[in-house]
Parts: sequence; structure tokens; C-alpha cells
Amino acid sequence: MSNLPVAGIILAAGKGTRMKSDQPKGLHEVCGLPMVDHVARALRGAGVERIVIVVGHGGESIQKRLGEGYAYAWQNEQKGTGHAAQMAAHLLAGFQGKIVVTAGDTPLVSSDMFAALISGGSLHTKCLIASSFVDNPKGYGRIVRSGVGVQRIVEEKDASPDEQEIQEVNSSIYCFDGPTLLECLPNLTNDNAQGEFYLTDVIAMVAEGGGADAMVFDDPDILVGVNDRWQLAEADRKMGERILRRHAESGVTIMDPGTTYLGAEVEIGVDTVLEPSTMIVGKTQIGKSCRIGPFTRIENCKIGNDVMIYVSYLKEAVLHDTAKVGPYAHIRPGSELYPDVKVGNFVETKNAILETGVKASHLTYIGDAIIGENTNIGAGTITCNYDGFHKSRTEIGRDVFVGSNSTLVAPIKLGDGSFVAAGSVVTGGEYPAGALVIGRSRTEVKEQWAAQWRNKKTKKDQ
Ligand code: UD1
Ligand code: CA
Repeated sequence: MSNLPVAGIILAAGKGTRMKSDQPKGLHEVCGLPMVDHVARALRGAGVERIVIVVGHGGESIQKRLGEGYAYAWQNEQKGTGHAAQMAAHLLAGFQGKIVVTAGDTPLVSSDMFAALISGGSLHTKCLIASSFVDNPKGYGRIVRSGVGVQRIVEEKDASPDEQEIQEVNSSIYCFDGPTLLECLPNLTNDNAQGEFYLTDVIAMVAEGGGADAMVFDDPDILVGVNDRWQLAEADRKMGERILRRHAESGVTIMDPGTTYLGAEVEIGVDTVLEPSTMIVGKTQIGKSCRIGPFTRIENCKIGNDVMIYVSYLKEAVLHDTAKVGPYAHIRPGSELYPDVKVGNFVETKNAILETGVKASHLTYIGDAIIGENTNIGAGTITCNYDGFHKSRTEIGRDVFVGSNSTLVAPIKLGDGSFVAAGSVVTGGEYPAGALVIGRSRTEVKEQWAAQWRNKKTKKDQ
């Protein structure tokens, strides 16, 4: 039976009222990925290719975020988990394999767990439930066992006092024999305390002759369902710790796990050291032997090997091997720093290419620019890229020396090896290679002026 294909149904149409949000619950993020996405990826990781996500209120935004790799079924009115599964059935009509059904608000479920459930059960099993034992079963459906497996699942509100004592509970994750599930779904009724169509009622329909069974999981994470923002925060912390541990185990030094935050999709090479209070999110890739932090945020960047980043903020930038950034630098989208580039304190770059060996060590804004190899950008240099209407480009050649406090009015081109005198306002245009470019008033000297002036002042005051 284990060679059968496996499909998945993720139930994510519930309103999630307690989140107090305009967004659907499943879209709330845990470590940078929507909760439904975590569940879907975990299913994929267990080899489940064909996945139907049941969406309702706000479903368009879930569809938009998760994309075309999934099929979507619509449940416009939330009439219960059984009704939600019914809405997915037409997309799996005739499917001959197993169907895993799971909730979309349990972000901590893992591929291993799904894989264990999928390969569990016997030839007779029509439904294998993932269950868990808890001290306080309140709120969960209770697993009512019989001599040969599970007899039924009874919801809290429908349970007798005796049944309420049962500590084995339903995680809301199941692996069904597909044809059996599809056959049972139309027969569900809403004759219960909540007036809902319960998916759990399928169990009683297949229980005869040991058709239903439960696989007990010790891992409390399978029960972590997120219903409010605090549970979201707790899930985020747990997932965050899992991610940190995974990186630590694969060779990344994390100096202070308590203040380090890594998104689920971040990749980091061996021997990279993360100093405290570092946040790396999005699809960021970082190479080997880098040193990053403290107090740094990096979002959607591609970073090579041996890169150093101190106390800085970087977004959608590319840093090649051995680049050095910070402290207090702001590297904005479209920046590309080649090897041996140094961007120092209070430097901002945006849509700017700094070729190998460029130094911009202090107090500079470089926007919409390309700067050639080994050019030195003096402290306080500003590329004036915006005239209130248009953005213009600055092109600086290689081996250029831009003196401190220069104002470069774009569009402008400075030839290779040119030299801009400190304090120049260089108006737009093209300046030849090797030239001195100077745009400032001459220094005047009035000999003895200061001494005489002081003298005069002192006499007057007496
Ligand atoms: C469900 C189970 C219960 C189990 C518990 C575990 C049923 C009847 N009960 O209860 O046995 O112990 O989960 O957390 O299944 N959903 C829809 N459409 C709906 C209703 C729900 O898509 O009409 C989705 C929700 O978005 C959620 C999932 O189904 O992702 C579970 O729904 P929820 O209301 O949380 O079920 P519980 O009452 O907690
Ligand atoms: Ca729930």
C-alpha cells in the first residue's frame, strides 16, 4: 500500500476570528513564511506532490502568495472541517492513492511526521489518525479506542463526562485511503452540538473491522495550532529555535541564540559567525566564513564568502567575497559590492555597483551609480541623483580619487584616474580621464587679518 501515490488536503478556510486580523489566518507568518506554506512544504517534503488547499475568506491572497504549485478549493461558508474537505473532493475525484488531510494553522508539523503517518497503518487501515497524549485535553477531539483500533473521535462539546477524561487527542492530521474518504464525505451530517459537518465523523464510518487507527506522536509540536497572536508568537519562537539549531548543526556559530532571528529560507555557509542581535530574513544566502552583526538586519541579499558586516542594514543587495560593510551602513536594493569593497560608517548605497576595491569609508550617499575598480570616494561625497522629477546616473571610472565633501550632480561621468578636488560641486557632464576636476571658490588669504581683528575687539571691550 505504501507505493500508492499520496495527495494532500490542507484545511485553511477557517476565519481565525481570534487573530483579530484583516488577513486570513493561514497567511500569518512564522519565521517569514505563511503558516499554510509551512504545512504545504512539510507535506511536499514527505513526498506529497498533489496538494489541494481549501480557502475561504481572504483566499485570493493565500492563492497569490503560495502560487500555482497547488490546487485551490473554495469553501465560502465555514460549515466545519468535514464540509471543508467536501469542497476539495471534486479536485481529487477518482484519485486512487492515499489522502493526507491536515489543518493549515499548525506550522510546526514536520515532513518526518507526515512521512511516518503515510507509511504507517496496515492493509486494512482506511484512516490513520495522528494522535497525542496530553495532560489537559480540553478543546480537542478525544480518540475513543476500541479493541481493534479507533472507534470514533468525539469532539469536546459532544463528549460524555467519561469521554472527556480521555487524554489521547486528535491532532487533526489524518492519512485516509483516498477512495474511502471520497466515498464517505457526502454522507456526513451536522447533527452535533456545533451544528457543523465534522471530518472526524468519517472515522466512525470506517471503524468497523479495524478500519481506523491512531498513531501516537510524542512530539507536542504536532498539536501546536495557532489561534491567536500569542500562539503565533510562541510558534515563531519554537520554529526560530529549530532553524537556529539546524544552522548551528551545519557549521554556523550563533553567539546569542536568544537575540538571533533567521527566516525559514535563509542559507548560511560553514564557519560564518553571527554576532548577537542579528536578523536575517527572506531568501538571503550567505557564504562561508563571514562575520555578521551585532545589531544587523539583512533581507533578501546574496552574500559571498569572507564578508564582514557590522551593525548595518542591508536589503536586496549582492555582496561578493571579502566585501566589508559598516558599522552603520545602509545598503539598499540594487547595490552590488565586488570583492574588497569597503563601505564604512554612515554610508548609504542604492542601485549602485561598486567594483573591486572601491572604498567609501565615511558619510556618503551613492545612488544610481557605477564606480570602477579601486576608486576612492572621500568622506561626505554625495551623488545628487534626483532633481525632484527624474533619477539620473553617476558613472565614475577606475582609480578615481573623489575628494571629501564632493557633490556630484548627475547625470555625470568621471573618466578613469581623474581627481576631484575636495569640496567640489561638480555639475553634470563628462570629465576626461586623468583630469583634475575642481569646482569650488579659491582659497583667499589676508595676511595678519585675524590678529588685527582680535586686537581691535580687545581694545573696544576694555
Ligand atoms: C479540530 C478537530 C478536533 C481536533 C482539533 C485539533 C474537527 C471536527 N475537530 O477541531 O478533533 O482535536 O481540530 O486542533 O475536525 N476549517 C476550515 N473550514 C471550516 C472549519 C475549519 O477550513 O469550516 C479549517 C480551519 O481553518 C483549521 C482547521 O480546519 O485550519 C481546523 O479547524 P478548527 O476550527 O480549528 O477545528 P477544531 O474545532 O479546533
Ligand atoms: Ca483548532
